[in-house]
Amino acid sequence: RLDVTEIFHGISYPGHLHTQDSLHHALKFPFQDTDVLIVSYPKSVGTTWMQEIVTLISSRGDPHLSQSSPNWTRAPWLEQYYCADLLKSSTSTPRVLTTHLPHDLLGPALQESKGQIIYVSRNPKDVLVSFYHFHKMANFLPDPGSFPEFLHQFLEGTLHFGSWFDHIKGWTSQAAALNLLHVTYEEMSKDLRGTINRVSSFLQRPLLEHELNNCVKHCSFSCMKDNKMINYSLIPDEILDHSKGCFMRKGEIGDWKNMFTGEQNRYFDTVFKSKMQDCILKFVWE
Ligand code: PPS
Repeated sequence: RLDVTEIFHGISYPGHLHTQDSLHHALKFPFQDTDVLIVSYPKSVGTTWMQEIVTLISSRGDPHLSQSSPNWTRAPWLEQYYCADLLKSSTSTPRVLTTHLPHDLLGPALQESKGQIIYVSRNPKDVLVSFYHFHKMANFLPDPGSFPEFLHQFLEGTLHFGSWFDHIKGWTSQAAALNLLHVTYEEMSKDLRGTINRVSSFLQRPLLEHELNNCVKHCSFSCMKDNKMINYSLIPDEILDHSKGCFMRKGEIGDWKNMFTGEQNRYFDTVFKSKMQDCILKFVWE
C-alpha cells in the first residue's frame, strides 16, 4: 500500500518516502557551511520553483542540468529515505537540499551551520487549495475527503506535514539567528527577474545579464510545465495519478477564490487571525 503513514514527533508523513530512520537521520544531519537549504511547507512553491531557480543560478542559466536530472536528485529532500545514499555518491558543491520539516525539529542540527537557507511562503489559502488538488492525484497521501473537511484539517494542523501556522512561524521567527532569506510565491509571480536577482545575491553568485535572462526563461511556468525533470510526469501513475490532475496545475495567485465559499472564508479568517496574532508577516491574498 502506498498511503502508509509515518508519524514522527506528532506529525504525519507519507510512508512511501519517509521512514523513522530517514526522519531521525534528518534531525542529526551534518550540515556543511556551503549547503543551500530550500525550506517550505508543501505547496508553497518553495519546493519546485526554488529548486529550479537555485539549479539555474548555480549553472549560470545553462538549462542542461535542470533538463537532464530530476529535481529530487539534484535537490533531495533530506528527510526522505533515499537522501543519505544519494549524497554519498554526490560530488556537487554547493549541495542543494530541500526540506518540509518544521524549524523545531531541524533547528538543533542547523545551530552550528552557516549554510544558506531559503524559506518560501505562499498565501495559505492558495497553499490549501493546491494541496487539496494534489491529494486527489497523489496515491501516497490520504483521501482528502470533501473540501470543507480538508479545510478543517488544514486549520487544525492534522494534515500530513503538520500545521502550516507552526511551520511559517517557526522558521520566520528564527530568521535573524539563521542565514535565512525569506521569499514569497507572490513576489516570485509578480517579479521573477527581481526574485532571481535577490536569490543570486544571497547565494553570492551574481549573474551576468544574459545568464539572468536564461534563468528567467527556464523558470517560467510554461517552461517548467514542459520539463519532465521538474513536472513530475516521470512518476508512475500508481503513485501520482496523472489522469486526475497535473502537478504544475495553475500556478496562479488567488485561485482560492474559486473554491472557498463566503462562510469558509470567514472560518479561515477567524482561525488565521487567532493563530497569527503573534506574527507580523503580511500576505497577498489575490
Ligand atoms: S511540493 O509538492 O511541496 O513540492 O509543491 P510546491 O512545488 O511547493 O508547490 C506546487 C505549486 O507550485 C506551482 N508552481 C509554479 N507556479 C508558477 N510558476 C512556476 N514556475 C511554478 N512552479 C511550480 C504549481 O503549479 C503548484 O501550484 P498550483 O496552485 O497547484 O498550480
